[in-house]
Amino acid sequence: MAKMWAGRTAGETDRIADDFNSSIHFDSRMYRQDITGSMAHAAMLASKNIISAEDADTLIAGLEGILNDIDSGKLEIDMTCEDIHMFVEQVLTERLGDVGKKLHTARSRNDQVALDLRMYLRDEITTIKSLIKDLIEALTNQAEAHKDVILPGYTHLQRAQPIVFGHHLMAYAMMLLRDLDRFTDTTRRMNVSPIGSCALAGTTYDTDRYLEAEKLGFDAICFNSLDGVSDRDFALEFLSSCATLMMHLSRFSEELILWSSWEFKFVELSDAYTTGSSIMPQKKNPDMAELIRGKTGRVYGDLMALLTTLKGLPLAYNKDMQEDKESVFDAVDTVKMCLQVAIPMVATMTVRADNMKRAAGEGFINATDLADYLVKKGLPFRSAYKISGQIVAKCIADKTVLEELPMTTYQTFSELFEADLYDEISLETCVAKRISEGGTSVGSVEKQIAYVRKQIQA
Ligand code: ARG
Repeated sequence: MAKMWAGRTAGETDRIADDFNSSIHFDSRMYRQDITGSMAHAAMLASKNIISAEDADTLIAGLEGILNDIDSGKLEIDMTCEDIHMFVEQVLTERLGDVGKKLHTARSRNDQVALDLRMYLRDEITTIKSLIKDLIEALTNQAEAHKDVILPGYTHLQRAQPIVFGHHLMAYAMMLLRDLDRFTDTTRRMNVSPIGSCALAGTTYDTDRYLEAEKLGFDAICFNSLDGVSDRDFALEFLSSCATLMMHLSRFSEELILWSSWEFKFVELSDAYTTGSSIMPQKKNPDMAELIRGKTGRVYGDLMALLTTLKGLPLAYNKDMQEDKESVFDAVDTVKMCLQVAIPMVATMTVRADNMKRAAGEGFINATDLADYLVKKGLPFRSAYKISGQIVAKCIADKTVLEELPMTTYQTFSELFEADLYDEISLETCVAKRISEGGTSVGSVEKQIAYVRKQIQA
């Protein structure tokens, strides 16, 4: 097929080379941004008298027609074109004749593709942020509904101290709040316009880059044309934000998987977000949570792929950079899919408060409070710690728990023990007493919920 860039070369490229070289099968998803960018470009060219106002109107109307026709399905994207930029220009020229050929004045595909990708990601980040907010809301609602449900808090996956389930869930809400912030911050540096950098060196035309940037909703322009066409930091930052978000989703998924096991039975996932086994009739598998955990690896891979692609590239544009898009698009699709599954999965999960409470009662997770009791009665913490450890050992030997060990036995360890002990070491008291800011008391959890809700409304 004759190339738009034919001139320097006359020979046809090989078909396999054509397929290898072309990016339309993935960059066609940026058609909207490409066309919108071209409309602003035509308007800018006319405002600087580089093309006539009449030509600009014709170009803009032509571009609008192409956009509408792709949207409505009337115009099918020709997958034999090299990329989406070539396709749009080709259709425009077919439809408008010579006027169509004026669009590409004072621009190059190098600044065009950088522009398109920034605009595309800017749009996708808006969607991703709104999904993150929905997930935070689902977590916060569950936290509110279970703000006083006691379960063991773990360190080293060993029962450590009692906490409430609302507190545990709000920890994830805090992580996601930071993810939101990271995407906002990513957008801030992304929202800088490269268009007008042209191929690499700028242009001899008296263009107005600021006007074009403003028309497209950018906050600023890239100040160095070489950097403008070579910079993919914004894509890396996007991927890095995605990777961190996925890491959070993966940690949460891991907990859901553990919690829905027979060993824990802390939660039951809705049938809608689990699967059965083809052979074992008793199974209810947390496939969705496992897939989120699994897909985290993909998104890390997307980040690594782009970092590696960029590391040896000399300035300015190199074709290697076409490889940026598949990583970025894969991350966009994966992150959105994972969030879309996670939101209803969290909203519909059943919390087994009885099993949480039972587990909390079995692990001596009030031993710290036992030691604190002695400290409050005047013993130094280290001595109190040692006595409490000995009492735990005694309970294990007697197959009992701290709450049920008789006072007479307690008093063989220390004369400081009195009847008020039992209330002090009840799990409810242990939780209620953790009133430090950010602690697990119900009041603190309520405060966290109010804080997070306020943040996502802002
Ligand atoms: N399809 C190309 C890409 O995605 C567009 C830029 C091509 N520029 C060039 N000089 N060949 O990077």
